[in-house]
Amino acid sequence: MAEVVIVASEDEAGELAASVVVELVRRVPDAVLGLATGSTPLSTYRALARRITDERLDVSRVRGFALDEYVGLPAGHPESYRAVIAREVVGPLGLTPALVHVPSGDPTTIAEAADDYERAIEAAGGVDVQILGIGRTGHIGFNEPGSSLASPTRVKTLTEQTRADNARFFDSPEDVPMHCITQGIGTILRARHLVLLAFGASKARAIADAVEGPVSASRPGSAIQLHPHATVIVDEAAAADLEHAPYYRHAWANKPGWQGV
Ligand code: F6R
Repeated sequence: MAEVVIVASEDEAGELAASVVVELVRRVPDAVLGLATGSTPLSTYRALARRITDERLDVSRVRGFALDEYVGLPAGHPESYRAVIAREVVGPLGLTPALVHVPSGDPTTIAEAADDYERAIEAAGGVDVQILGIGRTGHIGFNEPGSSLASPTRVKTLTEQTRADNARFFDSPEDVPMHCITQGIGTILRARHLVLLAFGASKARAIADAVEGPVSASRPGSAIQLHPHATVIVDEAAAADLEHAPYYRHAWANKPGWQGV
């Protein structure tokens, strides 16, 4: 079962997720981070940037792999995940740009890009901590409902719901690409620690399905139940549909200090 931590705010969630990464990098200076984009991980990246500066943490050898990328955006588009990762993660954290990878969404080379990405993650020794958000459709990465729980990195078609949800980043809803390249659920499950974050009432159903629902390709987030070390950090609104919330609060409040997150 995933460990579920219910916190008061996005900032508190960000602090907790950042502490997982900081502790990892202290132990493993060339750690491999799995990097989500979108709104959810921003409080984590902010907290992480602050702690790296305050604690003079050397992150020059830290490596990173983004979860996904849109297919077909022009090179340099500000909402391409390559640009977002550079702006929100590599710059503020002071990571070494050459060590942070984003799958290529260039349609002319897309067939090889997926296999290349999968091989690059493997060659890096796999992901140590994978930061995840979840979509209202229940997707992790861009693995929309119906995605195989064993899937590798590949091209997927975004649901209309996800395109509408992401339209806020673009000038018009039609500008949101139809396709993406995403780490598969099988790829995500090979990371050694999953940290799934979610905030707000619009994520409550997806979180309840992911944590407590039956494991099913129709609910891609439920794949986290197959992982031996998954931490779910949610605010009160995103926790609203969790049947066992009282137990999660009890377990967290009484967690032995030696156990760590
Ligand atoms: C982003 C990603 C997606 C998002 C999800 C939630 O790299 O893979 O799974 O995490 O769509 O998006 P936000 O955080 O914007 O609500």
